Amino acid sequence: MSRWITVANVNELPPGQRKIIVLEGKKIGIIRTADGVFHAIEDRCTHDDGPLAEGELDGNAIICPRHGARFDLATGKALTLPAFGFTGHWPVRVEGDKVQLEFQ
Ligand code: FES
Repeated sequence: MSRWITVANVNELPPGQRKIIVLEGKKIGIIRTADGVFHAIEDRCTHDDGPLAEGELDGNAIICPRHGARFDLATGKALTLPAFGFTGHWPVRVEGDKVQLEFQ
């Protein structure tokens, strides 16, 4: 069963900022891109478990700080080697001043 969980206030995440939360044992990066869109992506690179959510942002991509693989923030898909496949990704919505993710 899925549920929407409040994970941040809009004001605490200006464009280009992020926060990392732990939800039921999973580390998740709540990331707001420069154009103001929120994403939720697992803080785990599919290459070697690198701290993906700490990576540099580049448009709608995030770059793993360990070996440089790029991931699509909208889908969690690895875009470049050495990573491949998908890391965790969750739908995000804004309700008033709350940022919520749909957790299953
Ligand atoms: S751990 Fe992310 S690219 Fe290697």
